[in-house]
Amino acid sequence: MRKRGTSDECRTRGTGDAGARPAVEAMFDVDSCVCFELSFEEILRRCRRDAIDDLDGIRRAFGCGSGCGLCTPYLANMLRSGRTRFRLDEGIV
Ligand code: FES
Repeated sequence: MRKRGTSDECRTRGTGDAGARPAVEAMFDVDSCVCFELSFEEILRRCRRDAIDDLDGIRRAFGCGSGCGLCTPYLANMLRSGRTRFRLDEGIV
C-alpha cells in the first residue's frame, strides 16, 4: 500500500515555491467585491478620491459589503492597510 504524505509534504514537494504553488495560491486570492463587480483597487482609488474612510461610506457609495457581505472583512483590512489583494484566510473573522 502506498504511503500517503502529509499536507506539508504536498506543499513542499514537486513544484516547490518556484513552480505552480504561487499560481495555485493566487487562484484563491481575494481582490474584489463579487456582488458589485468592483475590484478593491478601484474601490480604494474611489475612496481616496471621495474621502471615504469607513465601511458605511463604502456601502453607501458603492454598495460593496451590502450584498452577501463576504468582502466586508477584506474591505476593512483594505482601509487599514491600503492593500487590495488578500489571501482567502485573511477574511476569516
Ligand atoms: S462580495 Fe461584496 S457584498 Fe458580496
